[in-house]
Amino acid sequence: MSFRTTAVDYVEDVSPGSGALPPRAWYAASDAKALSLNGSWRLRVSATIDAEDDSFAEEGYDAGDWAEVQVPGHWVLQGHGSPIYTNHLYPFPVDPPHVPTENPTGDHLRVFDLPEAWPADGGAVVRFDGVESCARVWLNGTDIGEFKGSRLPHEFAVGHLLKPKGNVLAVRVHQWSAGSYLEDQDQWWLPGIFRDVTLLHRPAGSVLDFFVHAGYDHVTGEGTLRVDSDVDGRVTVPALDIDVATGESVTVAVEPWNAETPRLYDGELVTEGERVPLRIGFRTIVLEDGLLKVNGKAILFKGVNRHEWHPEKGRALDLETMREDVLLMKRHNLNAVRTSHYPPHPAFLDLCDEYGLWVIDECDLETHGFTEQDWRDNPVDDDRWTPALLDRAARMVERDKNHPSIVFWSLGNEAGTGRGLTAMAEWIHGRDSSRLVHYEGDWNCRDTDVYSRMYANHAEVEQIGKELDGGTHKRRELPFIQCEYAHAMGNGPGGLADYQELFEKHDRLQGGFIWEWIDHGITHPELGYAYGGDFGEELHDGNFVCDGLIFPDRTPSPGLVEYKKVIEPVRIEGDGADGTVRVTNKYDFADLSALAFEWSYQVEGETVESGSLSVPALKPGETADVKLPEPPADHRGAETQWTVRALLAQDTSWGPAGHVVAWGQFPVAARPLPSVAPTEGPVRGEGQITLGPAAFDARTGALRSVGGVPVEGMRLDVWRATTDNDDGAEWQTDTRYGVLWRALGLHRMQHRLDAVELSDDALTVRTRVSPAAREVGLATVYRWTSDGDRLKLTVSVAPEGDWTVPLPRLGIRFGLAEADAVRWFGGGPGEAYPDSRLASTVGRWQSTVDGLQTPYVRPQENGARADVRWAEIGGLRIEGDPEFWFTARRWTTEQLDAATHLTDLTPGETVWVNLDHGQHGLGSQSCGPGPLPQYHLKAEPAQFSFVFSTAR
Ligand code: GAL
Repeated sequence: MSFRTTAVDYVEDVSPGSGALPPRAWYAASDAKALSLNGSWRLRVSATIDAEDDSFAEEGYDAGDWAEVQVPGHWVLQGHGSPIYTNHLYPFPVDPPHVPTENPTGDHLRVFDLPEAWPADGGAVVRFDGVESCARVWLNGTDIGEFKGSRLPHEFAVGHLLKPKGNVLAVRVHQWSAGSYLEDQDQWWLPGIFRDVTLLHRPAGSVLDFFVHAGYDHVTGEGTLRVDSDVDGRVTVPALDIDVATGESVTVAVEPWNAETPRLYDGELVTEGERVPLRIGFRTIVLEDGLLKVNGKAILFKGVNRHEWHPEKGRALDLETMREDVLLMKRHNLNAVRTSHYPPHPAFLDLCDEYGLWVIDECDLETHGFTEQDWRDNPVDDDRWTPALLDRAARMVERDKNHPSIVFWSLGNEAGTGRGLTAMAEWIHGRDSSRLVHYEGDWNCRDTDVYSRMYANHAEVEQIGKELDGGTHKRRELPFIQCEYAHAMGNGPGGLADYQELFEKHDRLQGGFIWEWIDHGITHPELGYAYGGDFGEELHDGNFVCDGLIFPDRTPSPGLVEYKKVIEPVRIEGDGADGTVRVTNKYDFADLSALAFEWSYQVEGETVESGSLSVPALKPGETADVKLPEPPADHRGAETQWTVRALLAQDTSWGPAGHVVAWGQFPVAARPLPSVAPTEGPVRGEGQITLGPAAFDARTGALRSVGGVPVEGMRLDVWRATTDNDDGAEWQTDTRYGVLWRALGLHRMQHRLDAVELSDDALTVRTRVSPAAREVGLATVYRWTSDGDRLKLTVSVAPEGDWTVPLPRLGIRFGLAEADAVRWFGGGPGEAYPDSRLASTVGRWQSTVDGLQTPYVRPQENGARADVRWAEIGGLRIEGDPEFWFTARRWTTEQLDAATHLTDLTPGETVWVNLDHGQHGLGSQSCGPGPLPQYHLKAEPAQFSFVFSTAR
């Protein structure tokens, strides 16, 4: 006999569920009563769906010995079970719609009383804003339904079941369900009731669903408002003197909404039983001349992909964390966000309306794991699943349709192609003709209104920009965006400026969205931040989950600082010689009246004078040449430059007065290169050679000290702890240099000593640096000279053999026994690499060795400062000819390379300093293209010098 409990069949049912009310517009608050059911709930986790019966849902059940869990929250982040990270692989056998017997099931219980003031009349609904992945709900012992669609709201009518005291809300949550097949996004699998649970009073005659239509005619300057409502009522907007019936249109002069000047009008929808606040933004989105235009203007997306993430709470975000994301985005000049890959908490969209961000709202749909079987059985191409897909589309559109910030509805991500997607697109187009439809997987643009791609390299983007990419007739008529590009995993991305140049050059290219906003590291007691595999997962994708522009604690990474500079809305170029600065307004809508300009003049990197600069309130696209003041007194012989900055003139909602929006620097007098006239000669003594302030080992010619400062192990160095972008992704082939470098042995170079030569004015040490088992090598000569005070090293490198790969870095490294404070004149304050150096500002900087480190979640090369003229560390002063890349750390490159988490790095006694003549670019090959050829550090003959002295 075989039997199976039908009570749990809903888990593997492809339908969206049963019992929930039709989807409708979401609003935070109205004058109807609401009771938050967030907080502490009772929790019992079972290993399977049927380990326990449903008697816990009965009134009077004693859950006194259950654990407690915070709602919103994920039980696996609260001590019950573990998170799992996979990119696209399903962590269970692919046999849709079946899921494993081992299906962690969290029974949740919450007992609540109605507040005193809860009205006796009317109805009530309980709203779940997000539960992963499938839930069955009981109130006071009555089964009220079950649902799937983790990041979508579900409401149930419960008025008839409520009692004043002792209501028992029971929710059984299953980690795996048929819905999991539709939720294969690249992120942690985190079951739980992770968004708010709210009980809403529904007075008689209260608002049901409503749709705010608020268009803007950029020719007349008028807005047209019509609010369609399922329940008749009136709509008022005091600032516009609007008081009309629902369903009635009214046209008045308005200030439009856009992401730069997000004008919102407060209004109200009033029905017999409820008053709902409205925040109305007037704008019109059209496809015209092959471009996406808002209010008559083609816009350029400077965007980012945002997953919801908090290192302790997972996807259960509070309002302040959401606001922090929006503020960080605004302060870094971003103007757009794609809610990859599901509708966010609805409050996030309120913030986008308020602060001004263009939004691609993406449906909770991804079936990426089916790629492993050539997309066979893909639910999006199987009619049985179409109702679930349409349910998801409707729940997103209905919930979010009243947000002016949303420009695109996105069908989902990486779900292949199929009839279900077409059905979603048709339904969305029919329901909301005021926005466009996006889906990246549809390269022929059959269902979409934009040609969207991910990680297309620069060359292809340029082809598309020039309209030379072919494609279907429909596609050729559409604008292009990169919904994902520039993979911000670890150190990187490189090449941002080069993309931006293309986006700005070709009209058809309407910008892109960096992958991605935040590293999804999980706070861990031993590891600092955990990533895939750290919880013993059977299948996982390691630190591929840490690929954001901000670290898990929301500290901006150098990648974000670079992006801010690359996309700055004001271009400031100058000519130091003729003393003019050219200012261009690159906003799409705003003039420059919100900005104040400031000039400063630096001598040897130090500001000697500054003042304000009067710049006209240019309109978008306009340019002005502005005369700079007379340069301050003559500083002959010193390097001088202008810096001009555009600052917020006043406090705004997202940034304080004085916040730097854009800047430019331009040199006046060039730097005098250090010169050392060789007046001393090397002297051979007892076991050592002396030359000016320096002592060397007599046998090996190795430097031992300069001016009494001991120096350890100085020699040529070509290795760097490979970055995620050096290593590349498994599916990338030919240019994964991190892999090729290691295969060649560049991490284990041997240094053969060929000669130590003393002449009248120089000590010359000849070596050959090469890896075991290979014939390639670098003939390396160190030539030391001195004027008595200072010591000059000239390094000459000549590659030998057939070098088929670039070098990771080229320079010298050495150890200092006592070093902490660092001062330098050059690029800063943060790190820079050849294809990510726009944000590096030339000036005088100081830090500590620890302060120079960038804490990439998986340790890797980091912390180089660009264009360094001189640096002081550990009692030494080092001047470069030419400028160099400066790095210092309390561990060796080999230790950095071996570490898997930051907690593996323990400071040693020695500080290791790298002075590099060159660094290889970063690129984005952990998912996208590698560095462009111009950023490759080619193995070719090179010569560079450093002058050492004791620090003043
Ligand atoms: C894309 C995908 C994202 C993420 C990214 C790599 O293909 O849409 O979800 O996986 O690659 O980090």
